[in-house]
Amino acid sequence: MRALEVAPPWGLDALEVVERADPTPGPGEVLVRMKAVSLNYRDFLMVHGLYGRMPATSGAITPFSDGCGLVEAVGEGVTRVAVGDRVATLFFQGWISGPPTLEKLSTALGHPIPGAGRELAVFSQEGVSKVPGFLTDEEVSTLPCAGLTAWRALFEDASLKPGETVVLQGTGGVSIFGLQFAHAAGFRTVITSSSDDKLARAAGMGATRGVNYKAEPEWSKAVRDATGGRGADFIMEVGGGGTIEQSLQAVKIGGHIAIIGVVAGMGSGLNPAALIGNSARLQGVSVGSRDMFEAMCAAIDLHQIRPVVDKVYPWTEARGAFAAMKGGEHFGKIVLRF
Ligand SMILES: NC(=O)c1ccc[n+]([C@@H]2O[C@H](COP(=O)([O-])OP(=O)(O)OC[C@H]3O[C@@H](n4cnc5c(N)ncnc54)[C@H](OP(=O)(O)O)[C@@H]3O)[C@@H](O)[C@H]2O)c1
Repeated sequence: MRALEVAPPWGLDALEVVERADPTPGPGEVLVRMKAVSLNYRDFLMVHGLYGRMPATSGAITPFSDGCGLVEAVGEGVTRVAVGDRVATLFFQGWISGPPTLEKLSTALGHPIPGAGRELAVFSQEGVSKVPGFLTDEEVSTLPCAGLTAWRALFEDASLKPGETVVLQGTGGVSIFGLQFAHAAGFRTVITSSSDDKLARAAGMGATRGVNYKAEPEWSKAVRDATGGRGADFIMEVGGGGTIEQSLQAVKIGGHIAIIGVVAGMGSGLNPAALIGNSARLQGVSVGSRDMFEAMCAAIDLHQIRPVVDKVYPWTEARGAFAAMKGGEHFGKIVLRF
C-alpha cells in the first residue's frame, strides 16, 4: 500500500507518497481502507515541522487525524465494528469519555500516533466510530477534529441558550462548523471574514450578521452594535494573538471565550485588565472525546447537517491541497480523496 510521509527538513517538497507493507490488524484492532482525509491547520503545521511538541529531530511522520474509511478486516475480539462498516477515525485515539487527562491527550492521531494519510491503516477498535449514513465519505472526513472542536466548544464547555449570540472568526473549517451548529441550536451568529463574498455565503447559511475584519479591524464594535451594546455571549476564538484583544472587547460581562486556534498569530495580546473588567471566562479547547463525537453525530443526523467541503483533491496531490490551504481561499474544508 502507499502512504503520505513527511520528514526533516520538512516543508511541502518533503511530503511524499511512499510504498509501505500492508498492515495486519492484531487483537482488538481494525484494518481500514481509507476513503478520504481532511486537512486541518494542524496538519499544515506538521508538514512544516512546526507542530506543538514535535521534536525537531523526529523521523518521518504520516499526517492527518481526520479520515473516513471502510473496515476491511478485524482482529480477534473486535466487537465495536464489523467488516464493511464505514467509520471515522477519532482525533484522540484514547480519549473515550470523561474529562481530558495527560494520558488521553497523548493519543492524538497524526502525531504522536501515525496518521490516517495512507491507503490502509490499522487502528484500535476504540479509535474509530460509525458515522451517519447520509454523509459522503468526504463530508465524514471533516468531523473528527474541526467538527468536534466546534461541537465541544459550544455544547460541552459553554452553557448557551437559544437566542444568545455566538461570534465565529473567519470562514475556515472550525468556524463554519460553529456556524452550522449554532444556527441549528437557535443561536444568533456574528461571523467575521476577510472576504465579502465569503460573508455573503455565510449569510446564506443563516449567519445573522457578517463583519469584514480587514475593512473593520475593530470588529468588536460591530458585535456590540449587534447585541445592543451588551456584547456576545460566546466567542469561538480561532485567531489567537491577532484576535484575542478584539474578542475581549466583544464579549459580554461574564461571557465565554473558547480558546481554540492561532491562525492570526501566536503572540499574546491578552490584556489582564480587560479580562478582569468583563469577568469573562477563557476556556482552552483540545478537540474532544469519543462520547462527544458520537453525541455530535447524533445531532448531525437529526438536523441533517452537511459539512461544507470546499475543495477535493486526489490524495496523491496533497502538496497542492496544502498550498491551497496556505492561500486561504477556502470556505470550510479541504479534503483528499483516495
Ligand atoms: N484547539 C483545538 O482543538 C483545535 C481544533 C481544530 C483547529 N484548531 C485551530 O483552530 C484554528 C483554525 O483551524 P481551521 O482548521 O478552522 O483553519 P482553516 O480552515 O485553515 O481556517 C483559517 C481561516 O481563518 C480565518 N482567519 C485568518 N486570520 C484571521 C483573523 N485575523 N481574524 C479572523 N479570522 C481569520 C480565515 O478566514 P477568512 O478567509 O474568512 O478571512 C481563514 O480562512 C487553527 O489555528 C487550528 O490549529 C484548534
